[in-house]
Amino acid sequence: MADAPVMKNEETDLAAGVREMVRQALTGEGTGHDWHHIVRVCHNARKIAHAEGADMLVVELAALLHDLDDWKVTGQDPGAAPVRAQKCLEGLGAGPDLIAQVSEIVRTIDYKGSLDEDRTLSLEAQVVHDADKLDAIGAIGIARCFTFNGHIGRPIFDPEIFPDDEVTQAKYTDLSRRENTGINHFFDKLLRLKDRMYTQSGAALARERHDFMITYLYRFFDELGADDWRDHLKTFLARKN
Ligand code: ADP
Ligand code: NI
Repeated sequence: MADAPVMKNEETDLAAGVREMVRQALTGEGTGHDWHHIVRVCHNARKIAHAEGADMLVVELAALLHDLDDWKVTGQDPGAAPVRAQKCLEGLGAGPDLIAQVSEIVRTIDYKGSLDEDRTLSLEAQVVHDADKLDAIGAIGIARCFTFNGHIGRPIFDPEIFPDDEVTQAKYTDLSRRENTGINHFFDKLLRLKDRMYTQSGAALARERHDFMITYLYRFFDELGADDWRDHLKTFLARKN
Protein backbone atom coordinates (compact mmCIF):
# COMPACT_ATOMS: atom_id res chain seq x y z
CA MET A 1 0.00 0.00 0.00
CA ALA A 2 1.50 3.37 -1.00
CA ASP A 3 1.92 6.39 1.24
CA ALA A 4 0.86 4.76 4.52
CA PRO A 5 1.97 6.93 7.45
CA VAL A 6 5.09 5.53 9.08
CA MET A 7 5.56 5.57 12.85
CA LYS A 8 8.62 4.29 14.68
CA ASN A 9 8.15 1.54 17.28
CA GLU A 10 8.41 3.79 20.33
CA GLU A 11 5.87 6.18 18.79
CA THR A 12 3.47 3.31 18.15
CA ASP A 13 3.90 2.19 21.78
CA LEU A 14 3.17 5.70 23.05
CA ALA A 15 0.04 6.00 20.89
CA ALA A 16 -1.10 2.54 22.01
CA GLY A 17 -0.61 3.48 25.68
CA VAL A 18 -2.58 6.71 25.30
CA ARG A 19 -5.28 4.90 23.34
CA GLU A 20 -5.77 2.34 26.11
CA MET A 21 -5.84 5.00 28.82
CA VAL A 22 -8.44 7.10 26.94
CA ARG A 23 -10.50 4.01 26.08
CA GLN A 24 -10.77 3.19 29.76
CA ALA A 25 -11.55 6.77 30.74
CA LEU A 26 -14.28 7.41 28.16
CA THR A 27 -15.94 4.03 27.57
CA GLY A 28 -19.60 4.41 28.49
CA GLU A 29 -19.36 8.21 28.85
CA GLY A 30 -22.92 9.49 28.40
CA THR A 31 -22.77 13.02 27.01
CA GLY A 32 -21.66 12.24 23.44
CA HIS A 33 -17.94 12.50 24.27
CA ASP A 34 -17.55 8.75 24.70
CA TRP A 35 -14.82 6.43 23.43
CA HIS A 36 -16.56 5.94 20.07
CA HIS A 37 -16.55 9.71 19.49
CA ILE A 38 -12.77 9.51 19.95
CA VAL A 39 -12.51 6.55 17.57
CA ARG A 40 -14.45 8.48 14.90
CA VAL A 41 -12.36 11.63 15.41
CA CYS A 42 -9.13 9.58 15.10
CA HIS A 43 -10.46 8.03 11.89
CA ASN A 44 -11.37 11.44 10.39
CA ALA A 45 -8.09 12.91 11.63
CA ARG A 46 -5.93 10.25 10.00
CA LYS A 47 -7.73 10.71 6.70
CA ILE A 48 -7.33 14.51 6.78
CA ALA A 49 -3.73 14.36 8.09
CA HIS A 50 -2.78 12.05 5.27
CA ALA A 51 -4.27 14.40 2.65
CA GLU A 52 -2.75 17.52 4.24
CA GLY A 53 0.70 16.08 5.04
CA ALA A 54 0.46 16.66 8.81
CA ASP A 55 2.58 14.93 11.50
CA MET A 56 0.71 11.70 12.14
CA LEU A 57 1.88 11.07 15.73
CA VAL A 58 0.99 14.57 16.96
CA VAL A 59 -2.40 14.35 15.25
CA GLU A 60 -3.12 10.88 16.62
CA LEU A 61 -2.21 11.82 20.22
CA ALA A 62 -4.19 15.06 20.15
CA ALA A 63 -7.23 13.35 18.60
CA LEU A 64 -7.08 10.69 21.35
CA LEU A 65 -6.70 13.21 24.18
CA HIS A 66 -8.79 16.14 22.94
CA ASP A 67 -11.88 15.59 25.11
CA LEU A 68 -10.36 14.27 28.36
CA ASP A 69 -10.32 17.76 29.90
CA ASP A 70 -13.30 19.27 28.01
CA TRP A 71 -15.18 21.69 30.27
CA LYS A 72 -18.45 20.23 29.01
CA VAL A 73 -17.36 16.79 30.20
CA THR A 74 -15.46 17.68 33.39
CA GLY A 75 -17.70 20.56 34.49
CA GLN A 76 -14.55 22.61 35.17
CA ASP A 77 -13.72 26.15 34.14
CA PRO A 78 -13.73 26.46 30.28
CA GLY A 79 -10.24 28.04 30.45
CA ALA A 80 -8.65 25.26 32.56
CA ALA A 81 -5.40 23.68 31.30
CA PRO A 82 -5.55 20.13 29.83
CA VAL A 83 -4.15 18.55 32.98
CA ARG A 84 -5.23 14.96 32.45
CA ALA A 85 -3.92 14.94 28.87
CA GLN A 86 -0.52 16.26 30.03
CA LYS A 87 -0.32 13.79 32.92
CA CYS A 88 -1.16 10.90 30.63
CA LEU A 89 1.64 11.83 28.19
CA GLU A 90 4.14 12.42 31.01
CA GLY A 91 3.28 9.09 32.60
CA LEU A 92 3.94 7.30 29.32
CA GLY A 93 7.32 9.00 28.88
CA ALA A 94 6.55 11.47 26.07
CA GLY A 95 9.16 14.23 25.60
CA PRO A 96 8.44 17.87 26.61
CA ASP A 97 8.20 19.17 23.02
CA LEU A 98 5.65 16.56 22.06
CA ILE A 99 3.65 17.19 25.25
CA ALA A 100 3.67 20.95 24.56
CA GLN A 101 2.53 20.47 20.96
CA VAL A 102 -0.30 18.10 21.86
CA SER A 103 -1.46 20.18 24.87
CA GLU A 104 -1.58 23.29 22.72
CA ILE A 105 -3.87 21.50 20.25
CA VAL A 106 -6.14 20.16 23.01
CA ARG A 107 -6.35 23.66 24.51
CA THR A 108 -7.12 25.56 21.29
CA ILE A 109 -9.41 23.55 19.02
CA ASP A 110 -12.78 23.91 20.70
CA TYR A 111 -15.60 25.82 19.05
CA LYS A 112 -15.63 28.34 21.88
CA GLY A 113 -12.17 29.49 20.76
CA SER A 114 -13.52 30.41 17.32
CA LEU A 115 -15.88 32.96 18.91
CA ASP A 116 -14.81 36.57 19.57
CA GLU A 117 -11.10 35.92 18.98
CA ASP A 118 -8.69 35.32 16.11
CA ARG A 119 -6.68 32.20 16.64
CA THR A 120 -3.79 30.73 14.71
CA LEU A 121 -3.66 26.96 14.65
CA SER A 122 -0.75 24.71 13.66
CA LEU A 123 -1.43 22.37 10.72
CA GLU A 124 -1.87 19.48 13.17
CA ALA A 125 -4.34 21.52 15.26
CA GLN A 126 -6.29 22.39 12.10
CA VAL A 127 -6.52 18.69 11.24
CA VAL A 128 -7.77 17.65 14.70
CA HIS A 129 -10.14 20.62 14.81
CA ASP A 130 -11.73 19.63 11.50
CA ALA A 131 -11.90 15.94 12.46
CA ASP A 132 -13.65 16.81 15.75
CA LYS A 133 -16.09 19.23 14.15
CA LEU A 134 -17.05 16.67 11.48
CA ASP A 135 -18.35 14.52 14.33
CA ALA A 136 -20.51 17.43 15.55
CA ILE A 137 -22.42 17.71 12.25
CA GLY A 138 -24.48 15.43 9.98
CA ALA A 139 -26.49 12.47 11.31
CA ILE A 140 -23.97 11.77 14.07
CA GLY A 141 -23.86 15.43 15.05
CA ILE A 142 -27.66 15.52 15.38
CA ALA A 143 -27.56 12.51 17.72
CA ARG A 144 -24.75 14.07 19.78
CA CYS A 145 -26.52 17.43 19.97
CA PHE A 146 -29.67 15.97 21.51
CA THR A 147 -27.68 13.66 23.79
CA PHE A 148 -25.72 16.58 25.23
CA ASN A 149 -28.85 18.69 25.33
CA GLY A 150 -30.62 16.07 27.45
CA HIS A 151 -27.56 15.74 29.66
CA ILE A 152 -27.68 19.45 30.52
CA GLY A 153 -31.45 19.35 30.92
CA ARG A 154 -32.44 21.77 28.18
CA PRO A 155 -35.65 21.52 26.10
CA ILE A 156 -35.51 20.09 22.57
CA PHE A 157 -37.28 23.12 21.13
CA ASP A 158 -39.36 26.11 22.14
CA PRO A 159 -41.34 27.70 19.28
CA GLU A 160 -41.37 31.05 21.11
CA ILE A 161 -37.59 31.29 21.66
CA PHE A 162 -35.54 32.07 18.58
CA PRO A 163 -31.73 31.80 18.64
CA ASP A 164 -29.56 34.86 19.24
CA ASP A 165 -28.16 36.32 16.00
CA GLU A 166 -24.71 36.77 17.56
CA VAL A 167 -22.99 34.02 19.56
CA THR A 168 -20.26 35.10 21.96
CA GLN A 169 -18.06 32.95 24.21
CA ALA A 170 -20.01 34.16 27.23
CA LYS A 171 -23.31 33.14 25.66
CA TYR A 172 -22.00 29.83 24.34
CA THR A 173 -20.59 28.73 27.69
CA ASP A 174 -23.73 29.70 29.60
CA LEU A 175 -25.47 26.36 29.22
CA SER A 176 -28.54 27.38 31.22
CA ARG A 177 -29.19 30.37 28.94
CA ARG A 178 -32.88 30.60 27.99
CA GLU A 179 -32.05 30.50 24.25
CA ASN A 180 -29.98 27.31 24.63
CA THR A 181 -32.39 24.69 23.27
CA GLY A 182 -31.42 21.67 21.17
CA ILE A 183 -32.72 23.16 17.93
CA ASN A 184 -31.17 26.54 18.68
CA HIS A 185 -27.79 24.83 19.09
CA PHE A 186 -27.86 24.17 15.33
CA PHE A 187 -27.98 27.94 14.77
CA ASP A 188 -25.47 28.71 17.55
CA LYS A 189 -22.90 26.22 16.31
CA LEU A 190 -23.67 23.29 14.03
CA LEU A 191 -24.76 25.25 10.95
CA ARG A 192 -21.75 27.56 11.36
CA LEU A 193 -19.11 24.82 11.29
CA LYS A 194 -19.01 24.22 7.52
CA ASP A 195 -17.50 27.67 6.93
CA ARG A 196 -15.09 27.31 9.86
CA MET A 197 -13.20 24.28 8.62
CA TYR A 198 -9.46 24.95 8.31
CA THR A 199 -8.37 22.33 5.79
CA GLN A 200 -9.62 21.71 2.26
CA SER A 201 -10.20 18.02 3.01
CA GLY A 202 -12.17 18.87 6.15
CA ALA A 203 -14.30 21.39 4.27
CA ALA A 204 -15.02 18.87 1.52
CA LEU A 205 -16.11 16.24 4.06
CA ALA A 206 -18.31 18.76 5.90
CA ARG A 207 -20.48 19.72 2.93
CA GLU A 208 -22.77 16.67 2.71
CA ARG A 209 -23.15 16.50 6.49
CA HIS A 210 -24.13 20.16 6.55
CA ASP A 211 -26.74 19.65 3.82
CA PHE A 212 -28.22 16.71 5.71
CA MET A 213 -28.75 18.89 8.80
CA ILE A 214 -30.62 21.45 6.69
CA THR A 215 -32.88 18.71 5.30
CA TYR A 216 -33.46 17.52 8.86
CA LEU A 217 -34.33 20.99 10.19
CA TYR A 218 -36.77 21.79 7.38
CA ARG A 219 -38.46 18.46 8.05
CA PHE A 220 -38.59 19.20 11.80
CA PHE A 221 -40.26 22.57 11.15
CA ASP A 222 -42.64 21.04 8.55
CA GLU A 223 -43.85 18.42 11.04
CA LEU A 224 -44.72 21.28 13.39
CA GLY A 225 -46.19 23.51 10.69
CA ALA A 226 -43.74 26.15 11.97
CA ASP A 227 -43.51 28.41 8.92
CA ASP A 228 -41.85 31.20 10.95
CA TRP A 229 -38.97 28.82 11.81
CA ARG A 230 -38.72 27.71 8.15
CA ASP A 231 -38.35 31.38 7.25
CA HIS A 232 -35.83 31.90 10.04
CA LEU A 233 -33.69 29.03 8.75
CA LYS A 234 -33.89 30.33 5.19
CA THR A 235 -32.78 33.81 6.26
CA PHE A 236 -30.00 32.38 8.45
CA LEU A 237 -28.61 30.30 5.58
CA ALA A 238 -28.70 33.24 3.18
CA ARG A 239 -26.44 35.39 5.35
CA LYS A 240 -22.80 34.99 6.33
CA ASN A 241 -22.47 33.43 9.79
P1 ADP B 1 -16.33 21.32 20.81
O1 ADP B 1 -14.95 21.27 21.31
O2 ADP B 1 -16.47 22.09 19.54
O3 ADP B 1 -17.31 21.78 21.83
P2 ADP B 1 -16.88 18.49 21.19
O4 ADP B 1 -16.17 17.36 20.56
O5 ADP B 1 -16.61 18.71 22.64
O6 ADP B 1 -16.65 19.83 20.36
O7 ADP B 1 -18.39 18.26 20.97
C1 ADP B 1 -19.37 18.98 21.61
C2 ADP B 1 -20.67 18.22 21.37
O8 ADP B 1 -21.63 18.65 22.31
C3 ADP B 1 -21.20 18.51 20.00
O9 ADP B 1 -21.75 17.39 19.42
C4 ADP B 1 -22.23 19.58 20.27
O10 ADP B 1 -23.24 19.61 19.35
C5 ADP B 1 -22.70 19.25 21.65
N1 ADP B 1 -23.08 20.48 22.35
C6 ADP B 1 -22.25 21.42 22.82
N2 ADP B 1 -22.95 22.44 23.40
C7 ADP B 1 -24.24 22.11 23.27
C8 ADP B 1 -25.44 22.73 23.67
N3 ADP B 1 -25.43 23.90 24.29
N4 ADP B 1 -26.60 22.11 23.37
C9 ADP B 1 -26.60 20.92 22.74
N5 ADP B 1 -25.47 20.26 22.33
C10 ADP B 1 -24.31 20.85 22.60
NI1 NI C 1 -14.66 16.04 20.59
